[in-house]
Amino acid sequence: MIDYPKVLIVASEGMPFVKTGGLADVVGALSKTLTALGVDVRVMMPKHAKIKREYQDELETLTATTLNLGWREKYLGIQTLKKDGISYYFLDNEDYFGGEVYRGGDAESEQYLFFCKAVCEALLLIDFEPDILHLNDWHTGMVPMLVKTQYADRLGKPRRLLFSIHNIEFQGKMGFDLMQDLLTIPDFYYTPEYVESRGCANMLKAALVFSDRIATVSPNYSDEIMNSWFGSGMEGILRARRHELSGILNGIDTEVFNPEDDPTIAAPFSAADITGKRTCKKALREEFDLGIPLTSPVIAMVSRMTEQKGFDLVQHVLEELLQEDLAFVILGSGNRNYEDFFNYIAAKYPAKSGVYIGYNEALAHRIYAGADFLLMPSEFEPCGLSQMIAQRYGTLPIVRETGGLVDTVAPYNRYTKEGTGFSFSTFNAHDMMDAVRLALSVYRDKPTLRKLRRNAMQVDNSFLRSAEQYMALYESML
Ligand code: ADP
Ligand code: GLC
Repeated sequence: MIDYPKVLIVASEGMPFVKTGGLADVVGALSKTLTALGVDVRVMMPKHAKIKREYQDELETLTATTLNLGWREKYLGIQTLKKDGISYYFLDNEDYFGGEVYRGGDAESEQYLFFCKAVCEALLLIDFEPDILHLNDWHTGMVPMLVKTQYADRLGKPRRLLFSIHNIEFQGKMGFDLMQDLLTIPDFYYTPEYVESRGCANMLKAALVFSDRIATVSPNYSDEIMNSWFGSGMEGILRARRHELSGILNGIDTEVFNPEDDPTIAAPFSAADITGKRTCKKALREEFDLGIPLTSPVIAMVSRMTEQKGFDLVQHVLEELLQEDLAFVILGSGNRNYEDFFNYIAAKYPAKSGVYIGYNEALAHRIYAGADFLLMPSEFEPCGLSQMIAQRYGTLPIVRETGGLVDTVAPYNRYTKEGTGFSFSTFNAHDMMDAVRLALSVYRDKPTLRKLRRNAMQVDNSFLRSAEQYMALYESML
């Protein structure tokens, strides 16, 4: 048995239990792949009421205790579940995790201040001594500071702390009084050397200061966040710690997203035999009642509806685009303005548009399988998984050249006729339209289309590559 480091992954969400975005996919795929490599990896997350019922029923209570948040005494239950060889720990407190995964505002800060403290308490109670604590995003941001200060004596064995940034825009900002009140942090730490940033207490800042190493989810994003446009105020500390910052490209769970064996899609297909994709497209056309011929292209989006994802560009030109012979399908939810806009589009162009406002995993699979193109014109994108999933289903991504989209999509070259998708560089609606028009011209050139689809489906987006890089990073930390 090889003596791999023992790893505890800590995050606010994770597949297959609860997911709002790519973070959950990565937690799921990383833990699964490391386990397959023989690593003792376990996962800790809040026990959200949103965890799928089938799993809730299987949870076993390990212990129940209380912890102090300032003057408050709060319940902490630790529940566990072993699934596919992985032990999961769920930290239970219904006041904090009985509703939305992310409550917004100070209520959300409080949810995750509690979570950070609960993680430290749980480390004292569970029968597992990880060598590496792999923390993810600001929701876990106070753990490194607590581990190295308030819990240093009680935790005994020193643990090495890796902090992964999945999205630097979300930082867990709050008034210092709230952070201080709940976690009993001395005034001393409210300076730019520690938890202060731009006049607020900031959980991400605390993580970047106190972690031993920092990772982010694509090489290109790791460069971008060292400058002020992308760094959201963290560029200074990231530049100072640049030699301790790694960019490890995400992958996807190629078992979950597998067109050859996906129970949610109308027909299986593969790079070698792609005929089933036509059946999937037909099913999608029926599902959304699209009035276009099967030979017309379908452009899709599957996305959180936030500014980050480039919806301002889409909003600006979608009606112009809908004058072309094509259909547009979107699955997503988020910002109310965008939801209203797409509802308006659905009402005005019923035969050419399919709109589903909400979250629906099975539908996401059907869209990836049935569409021809996936539009992802992000303003910034730490990595992005949708474009990788689309490639796996032979759906060519049309992306803006930012973050991980640069690392994962080889733009079509009209001279060599090679590529795995299409891209544009300036965040401008008509530059995006040019990329879409180029994609539509390739759609009419069937031999090239077939070649690009095959290229896209053959890209190795599996998580193995990422997991091996994480392993090397963990080992270098000990
Ligand atoms: P982000 O994490 O920024 O939202 P990613 O591209 O990394 O973006 O990951 C998004 C993940 O969430 C993908 O697996 C995508 O398929 C999925 N997803 C996004 N919106 C929805 C939705 N409305 N319904 C189902 N799945 C969704
Ligand atoms: C974040 C990012 C996304 C990335 C995902 C998983 O949600 O917005 O780009 O793919 O995390 O790391």
